[in-house]
Amino acid sequence: MTDVPTYHLRVAEEADVESVLALRRHAEQWLRDAGIEQWTKSEYGAGVMKGWIGAGSTFVVQTDDGDIIGSLSLDAGDADFWTPEELSEPARYLYKFILRSDHRGNGLGDVLLDWASYRTESTGDLYLRLDCWRDNTGLHNYYLRRGFQYIDTRPHPIRMSGALFERSAELRLAQSAPLRLIDGNLGHQFHPVPGVPRSQG
Ligand SMILES: CC(C)(COP(=O)(O)OP(=O)(O)OC[C@H]1O[C@@H](n2cnc3c(N)ncnc32)[C@H](O)[C@@H]1OP(=O)(O)O)[C@@H](O)C(=O)NCCC(=O)NCCS
Repeated sequence: MTDVPTYHLRVAEEADVESVLALRRHAEQWLRDAGIEQWTKSEYGAGVMKGWIGAGSTFVVQTDDGDIIGSLSLDAGDADFWTPEELSEPARYLYKFILRSDHRGNGLGDVLLDWASYRTESTGDLYLRLDCWRDNTGLHNYYLRRGFQYIDTRPHPIRMSGALFERSAELRLAQSAPLRLIDGNLGHQFHPVPGVPRSQG
């Protein structure tokens, strides 16, 4: 038994498509209830999610009970927003970062951002980047408070994303989160310490 919440992170599989879509719908509902326009006008189908999962770049976070309560993807940059020159730089791009509401605000999000930085670093990349909803200053502030720097806003004729952020892949901010994240790939707990993660202590 552990005295702190334990989460398990692993690569998403095709069998997870419905769970990840359910998370997305949950986030859409939360955004709608909060009066935030982000994601409320889009439909997100199983086909799209299967594509992401098939590419092997999506990760899910589970509780000890096996409930999928979070997701994130790390992939190449979106050419709708980043310039060819930026896309040639050593960076990973964060997408589909979602936590179920009952697992937010407890430090897990910060640990996952550190994990995403670690993963970015471990593939030899220097920057963790993302594009997000252009007008959502609440979300921009979330990332700014977590060490991301604002790069630019690039309007798109149809899509509402385009606010661009990046942070150094070396950054680790969640030093004292009262939880454990077990990385199924590493086979042990992820420790958000700068540089290579330590083995389980
Ligand atoms: C983004 C997310 C994973 C972060 O989880 P977390 O690290 O536990 O952080 P919290 O959920 O506690 O959010 C911290 C603050 O950011 C705000 N915030 C989070 N997502 C937001 C969003 N999409 N729009 C506006 N504000 C948002 C929260 O309301 C909270 O504000 P407060 O400090 O004033 O209460 C989680 O909030 C989430 O799933 N949000 C909805 C999906 C989403 O927008 N993902 C980002 C896509 S780029």
